Amino acid sequence: MNTIIEELSKLFCEAFTKAGYKADLGRVVISARPDLCQYQVNGAMGGAKLYHKAPMMIAQDVVAAIPENEIIKNVAVVNPGFINISVKDSYIADYMQQMLMGTDCGFKKTAQPQKVVLDYGGPNVAKTLHVGHLRSAVIGDALKRINRFYGNQVIADAHLGDYGLQMGLIIHELFLRQPELPYFDENYQGEYPKQAPFTLKDLGEIYPTASAKSKEDEQYLAAARLATVQLQQGRRGYYALWQHIMNISLPDLRHNYARLEVDFDYWLRESDAKSYIPAMVEKMKQDGHAYISEGALVVDVKEESDTQPIPPCIILKSDGSAIYETTDLATLVQREQDFAPDRVIYVVDKRQFLHFERVFRCAKKTGIVRPNTELSFIGFGTVNGKDGKPFKTRSGGTMKLADMIDMVQAAVHIKDEENLSQAEVQQLKQTIGLAAIKYGDLMNPTESSYIFDLDKFTSFEGNTGPYILYTMVRIKSILAKLNQTGKAVTSPRFAAFSCDSERDLALALVRFSHTVSEAAKKDAPSIICSYIYEVANKFNIFYHDKKILAETDTTALSSLVALISLTLNILNICTNLLGFKAPEKM
Ligand code: ARG
Repeated sequence: MNTIIEELSKLFCEAFTKAGYKADLGRVVISARPDLCQYQVNGAMGGAKLYHKAPMMIAQDVVAAIPENEIIKNVAVVNPGFINISVKDSYIADYMQQMLMGTDCGFKKTAQPQKVVLDYGGPNVAKTLHVGHLRSAVIGDALKRINRFYGNQVIADAHLGDYGLQMGLIIHELFLRQPELPYFDENYQGEYPKQAPFTLKDLGEIYPTASAKSKEDEQYLAAARLATVQLQQGRRGYYALWQHIMNISLPDLRHNYARLEVDFDYWLRESDAKSYIPAMVEKMKQDGHAYISEGALVVDVKEESDTQPIPPCIILKSDGSAIYETTDLATLVQREQDFAPDRVIYVVDKRQFLHFERVFRCAKKTGIVRPNTELSFIGFGTVNGKDGKPFKTRSGGTMKLADMIDMVQAAVHIKDEENLSQAEVQQLKQTIGLAAIKYGDLMNPTESSYIFDLDKFTSFEGNTGPYILYTMVRIKSILAKLNQTGKAVTSPRFAAFSCDSERDLALALVRFSHTVSEAAKKDAPSIICSYIYEVANKFNIFYHDKKILAETDTTALSSLVALISLTLNILNICTNLLGFKAPEKM
């Protein structure tokens, strides 16, 4: 289905043309003053400059030229040249009827689908997920769902970090603790033990310890670096340790993402790009892009328009080792070869902006990606505590993601808990808790930081995930009650509105397709959050005004059922796009 904005725009583009002005001035937008009108056209102001004519006059010419139509109820020209539009109730009702009958509430998929690789998650192996991993997972997963709904083909890749210094740090720390292990004996020829010399819990302690030591002790850092190079060069014992780390860490990562109900098509790792590195490096050298600077192999990526110094992109360090830039570039080689995407999106902490800026420039300059491949960095802000500093446990430690989920679920209040089985309560807490976490995150503009406020996020009132679910459950229970009392409406039909709050809700519902498209085009799940909050609020005002269950007139009841069914369908789609769902009861 075309959106109402598209339908109105057609009329106004025609009117601008007929009146002798450029057609594209007739683009319709949603009213900035819903108290005055529903839609508006601002093109007369733009036309004033082009045609040296007062905008009021242009607007009047245009209004006189609007073709015959079934859509518009009122148009008004107001200072300094706005054209204010209201649409007929009957048109809105017909439009909603089509939404209700159509698939995806009438959403029309894009006519230009893109193939998109979506890089999100991105945890380093060897440590369990913590709060710092939340946003990439939640935002990336929502973007995946939104892009698919929009009509794009999405390839979701977790891009696990397993090739950098963190591996060398673990290996070196382990060496200091247990030098007698065969992994460290270069002359050892036999098989390595099947059993890892550490557990997941050990790893969780080894890595931070090693990382802290490396920041204070240069020699320690140098040794960890050497271990990293040797691992990359394929030193047998280190490779065996790497495998142990992967074997222990991967199931834990998968388990944690599953608890978040976040998934990937590919669980590729940085190290999966290693076979692409030699040819990539060779080509960069041959093409004259890469040169040696202070021992390292680098590619210049600064541009004349830069307002800050952009250091060269380091391809190989002086010890020959691959770093973060190297694996990201080689991964682009792999993605180009395997998927040839139109676009690659990276959902990463915004502090990594410069890294990606350099990688993108280097990939374009050296021809790793085609000139029109779109490389997008979607940088997100931090999850903070109430003190405005990065969120921590009470004792000041890093909050594990699993503990955070537990904490939120424990804080979710379930009504009627006594009358439910333990499994039901657990399921409800899981469903509502996820909505609290994901909505609390996604409602913020991606680049902003936000305060993780447990009480607020889990509240059933206000701008929260549970409030949205509560509204959906309310609609489900009205429909269920109608069923139980033999008043179910089998093929609901929209009719005249019975009150203003009903029209207000309807006007929000008809904006569904436009809103989802905007969210997709702007990579902004927050647009969908604001939208469903508005829909939920308008529904609840309407619910307060109108006693649906008491309606005795069958035509009126049918229309009310159509309206609340469409509301529920839209909320179902939108929450699904955000990565959560409503329970049957709560
Ligand atoms: N592993 C990285 C980190 O922990 C994030 C990976 C983001 N994705 C990427 N292609 N670099 O900082």
